[in-house]
Amino acid sequence: MQGVFITIEGVEGSGKSTQMLRLSERLRRLHLPLVVSKEPGGTALGRELRRLLLERHASGETWCAESELLLFYADRAQHLETLIRPALAQEKIVLIDRFEDSTRAYQGASGVAEASLDRLSELVLRGLRPHLTVLLDMDPELSLQRVEVRNLALGHEFSETRFDEAELDFHRRVRNRFLAIAQGQPNRVALIPARDPVEQVEAAIWLRVAPLLRNAGFRID
Ligand code: TYD
Repeated sequence: MQGVFITIEGVEGSGKSTQMLRLSERLRRLHLPLVVSKEPGGTALGRELRRLLLERHASGETWCAESELLLFYADRAQHLETLIRPALAQEKIVLIDRFEDSTRAYQGASGVAEASLDRLSELVLRGLRPHLTVLLDMDPELSLQRVEVRNLALGHEFSETRFDEAELDFHRRVRNRFLAIAQGQPNRVALIPARDPVEQVEAAIWLRVAPLLRNAGFRID
C-alpha cells in the first residue's frame, strides 16, 4: 500500500467542481482513506492568499506576473508541507482541485517564462508529481458561457458576468497550455472531453482512477 496523489485540472466552467464532488463521494462510499483539498486555499495561510489572489484586480494596482506567481507557490509550499506530503506518507488518497499544471497553464499564459516556472517548481515540489492528473478539456468559448450563466443565476449584474474578447483569448491560451502538458506527459495526464454528459465524464474519470488505486493496493470492488 502506498499513498496516491490525484489532481484535477481544467479551465473555468469545465465541470471540475462537479467531478471533484462525484469522485470524492465515490471514494468515501468505498471507505477509502481520503484527503480532499484545493489550490489556492487548502491551508489557513492558503485561504488568506486565496482571498488576496481572487481580489487582486480590486485595488486598481496591476500585479506583476512574478508577484502573483510567488503567491501561488507560497500557497503550494504550505499545502505540500502541512497537508499533501503528510497524507501521502500516511498512505492516503490525496485528491486536489488544481495544482502545478494550473500554474504552468495560467501563469505561463500570463507571460511567465518556462525557466522561472521550472526553478520555482523544483524548489517547492522537490520532484513530487501527481500519480494521475485528470484534465477536463473544453473550449473556453463554451465553458465561460457556463460560468456566465452560473453568475447570472447568482444574481450578478449582466455586465459583470460577461467575459470580453481579451479574457476569452487568455483562456484559449490557458487551454492550449493544458493540452500541451497532456500531450507531453500522456502517462500522467488523462485528457477527458468535458462536454459530454456529467455521468459519461464521471465514468471516463473512474476508468483512469480505478486501476491506479488497485495497483496501489486499495480494495475498490
Ligand atoms: P477558483 O475559484 O478556485 O476557480 P475554479 O473553480 O475554476 O478552480 O479560482 C482559482 C483561480 O486561480 C482560477 O482562475 C485559476 C487560478 N490559478 C492560477 O492562476 N494559478 C494557479 O497556480 C492556481 C492553482 C490557480
